[in-house]
Amino acid sequence: MISRKTANQCYVYITLPGETEFVTAGKFELATDRRGIPAGRFIYGRSYLDRDNAVAIDPLELKLGNKTCKTSLLKGIFGSLRDASPDFWGRRVIQKRSGHTQHGEIDYLLHSPDDRAGALGFGLNKEPPAPRRKFNRTIELEKLQKLAAAIIADEDIPANADAEQTQDLMFGGTSMGGARPKAVVEDENTLWIAKFDHPDDKWNDARVEHAMLTLARECGLQTSESKVIAIGGRDVLMVKRFDREHTDAGYRRGRMLSALTLLRANDDYQNRERWSYVLLVEELRRISSRPKTDASELFRRMIFNALISNIDDHPRNHAVIAMDRDWILSPAYDLTPATPISAEHRDLALECGDMGRFANAENLLTQCERFYLTPDDARNMINQMEVIVRDNWYAVARREGVTEKDCDKISAAFTYPGFRLEAAALSDLTL
Ligand SMILES: Nc1ncnc2c1ncn2[C@@H]1O[C@H](COP(=O)(O)OP(=O)(O)O)[C@@H](O)[C@H]1O
Ligand SMILES: [Mg+2]
Repeated sequence: MISRKTANQCYVYITLPGETEFVTAGKFELATDRRGIPAGRFIYGRSYLDRDNAVAIDPLELKLGNKTCKTSLLKGIFGSLRDASPDFWGRRVIQKRSGHTQHGEIDYLLHSPDDRAGALGFGLNKEPPAPRRKFNRTIELEKLQKLAAAIIADEDIPANADAEQTQDLMFGGTSMGGARPKAVVEDENTLWIAKFDHPDDKWNDARVEHAMLTLARECGLQTSESKVIAIGGRDVLMVKRFDREHTDAGYRRGRMLSALTLLRANDDYQNRERWSYVLLVEELRRISSRPKTDASELFRRMIFNALISNIDDHPRNHAVIAMDRDWILSPAYDLTPATPISAEHRDLALECGDMGRFANAENLLTQCERFYLTPDDARNMINQMEVIVRDNWYAVARREGVTEKDCDKISAAFTYPGFRLEAAALSDLTL
């Protein structure tokens, strides 16, 4: 049972590059300062710092060393730790399981299972727990899907003979971030994120998201591998985890940081002055071991999001990953089209040029040099991708099982008229 007492400190564990077991990296404490503002403090353990293979949890904000690191952003939770915490969906499952809603930020870290994104773990004991060896299997998906539906409907978890077991099943696989109902399942020696449907979906999201990942690959983007499987008559999107690698000894884990963390940004839409591709590419240039490749890949993603009206490209939908010591941009994930009413003006979630968030070719070009691209190269990239999206989105969607009806619903998302509005016409629009 999850206790009602709110924890204010915990140990942070990490799986080091090449390893499959946790070691203790340090200690995190959450306090409130004299003005009532939450203040987080982290310190690496001495035995951790003595390790030859020690790596920083976040090379920008939690650098290796014996100095205490402090933050007041994100309610005092360092972004790198917050990235390992469940979001809307996982929190809801934890609340459901515990029967109450009053959990502190550290409680969410402590009570979420050990399948979270990235290489971190959390606990109250100085010694880390043994790594998890057992995962939900694909054949358990139908059960998980039903449980997810019950949680969405806010029903009680079915009280049958194996209710406890099914609760545990559901609980395993809820630490991943995001709002959609999901679970982590193992198939052979691979871990997948299973994304379930939701009653509010406007179309078959599993098929549409899978089609967008496929279209993105055709546009030259690096993406997670995905497939759709039908379970109990409903489609489930399966996305292969890029932060896990199977070995005979268990799973290796990659460290992960969201763009929100890299940008030192807040996570609400009211407070997003740092939500920007242009700022993000600067951070990427600092952290990435292949800055040129990653910067141009990020530019490609920005174009793609503008071309498919993916306005949900917020900073938790971008990440960097380190499977070994080096950081690189992670494969793209969570690519979804939207069909806002305006045909002339659509905004991405992040600023993408001198004209703000406007999803427009001219705007995208304004800062291309920061992505190590000449205006000619950037223009060519935009033109080529525009042709691929315009000419292929429908064929790709149909081939990947999106119905004719759903294609009709999403068609307004692709190469919308505002993408090509000329600079002269742009000045007439309020940006
Ligand atoms: N293929 C993947 N491998 C590892 N982690 C992933 C992968 N895809 C997504 N994630 C992580 O899981 C979180 C939730 O996934 P996402 O597809 O964004 O779900 P949602 O649609 O609910 O936002 C992401 O924010 C990211 O941290
Ligand atoms: Mg997401």
